[in-house]
Parts: sequence; C-alpha cells; structure tokens
Amino acid sequence: MKLDRFISNHTAHSRQAARLLIASGHVQVGGQLTHDPRHQVDQFVPISLDGELLQAREAHFVMLHKPVGYLSATTDPQHPTVMELLPSPLREELHIGGRLDRGSSGLLILTNDGLWSRRLTEPRIKLPKTYRVTTLRPISAETTERFANGIYMTTEQLTTSPAELERLGPCEARLTIYEGRYHQVKRMFHAVGNQVVALHRESMGAIVLDPALQPGQYRALTQEEINSVDQPG
Ligand code: URA
Repeated sequence: MKLDRFISNHTAHSRQAARLLIASGHVQVGGQLTHDPRHQVDQFVPISLDGELLQAREAHFVMLHKPVGYLSATTDPQHPTVMELLPSPLREELHIGGRLDRGSSGLLILTNDGLWSRRLTEPRIKLPKTYRVTTLRPISAETTERFANGIYMTTEQLTTSPAELERLGPCEARLTIYEGRYHQVKRMFHAVGNQVVALHRESMGAIVLDPALQPGQYRALTQEEINSVDQPG
C-alpha cells in the first residue's frame, strides 16, 4: 500500500490531505521523516503522524529447537506447548510455520508474518525440509527408489513429490521432502512397511537448525535467513 493511502485509511484525513501532510514533513516511517506520498508501506514498519503512532507492529522471525514432548500448538490442557518456551508478549504474537509432531524434535520456525510463513509450507513452493529419521526396522534398499518415485497418500489422493533418502545406517537416514503434509514422513515409511521411532528436523530451505541451540532454546532469524525464503536457491 502507498503511504498516502495508509494515512487516509488510518486517520480522518482525505487522500489529498494525507499527501500534503506527508510532503510537508508530518509523517515518519521507521523513525525517519518521509516526504514521498507514494512510498510503499511495509506492514511491519512503525508509522507515525505528528508523533502519534498509527502502526507499531514489528516483524518477528524465530527459530526454536523443539524438544520431544512439546505440542506445536498455542495451548493444550494436557501437554506442554512450544509457545511456553517463548517469553510473553512475543508468544502471543507468533504462529508456527510448519508444525512438528509432539514426538518429533528440531527446527521449528515461528513468526507473525503470515505471508512469509505460507512460503514455508505451501506445497506449490516446494521448499525442501530435511529430517534425520530413525526407524524400527532396517531401511531397505528399495525405500530410496520408492520415495524418489513418490508415495501415494490415500487420504489426500495424491502422490508426494520425489523425495531424497540418504541411508546413514541400517535404521538411520536423512530424508528431504518438498511438502509438509500431515504426518508425512511417518506415513511415507509406513507405506514401505517400516515405522519411524525418532524424527528430527534439521533444516527448512536454507535455514538450518543452529547447533548452538539446546532443545528448548531459540534465537531470532538473521536477515539472510529471512530473505532466503523469499528468494530460494
Ligand atoms: N512428518 C511427520 O510425520 N512428523 C513430523 O513431525 C514432521 C514431518
């Protein structure tokens, strides 16, 4: 949205009056006086008119090392939730971009930017998600090929995008998938007669779980990590 429209939408001023106010130095965007009525407004930048804040929201992007046992939910009567690992008031603002099951661990991304987080999960975008998987039974040689060909999911009536499986040991593998469907990894292994006993997400696109984060710890994403989702690969 252009700055003049933003000012007229958020005050009693007409678009014309808003243009004059902006041109004559009454409006600050991100703490700077802005004289251009056509300035493109970002939804997260603070905007004020004569010192009165019209938009205060700041964008937040967080990576959390999710521990096993925590639900990817806001509240739950039974289990601890990942939100409880974040300080208030940050936790009230954030939503999860790509959930992990309660028994899974690893990279969880939280933000208050809904447009940005949609790119993490939207199957059409095909953002790679890499998991370290431990299985109950040895991973057969044909599993790699089955996953590369795509696994048919009966509930959704669709075939998963080709996934890459790297066997690391008899019951250990690194798997990269390009969607994030409900229980996708568990269902893929189930389809080949195996069972996942531990699942840890290592990365989403270019964002890799920071090895300095212990389970339960979090940090803000860097600008480079944030930008990587808008300009993948
Ligand atoms: N696939 C699963 O089955 N579980 C997860 O937590 C993530 C991906």
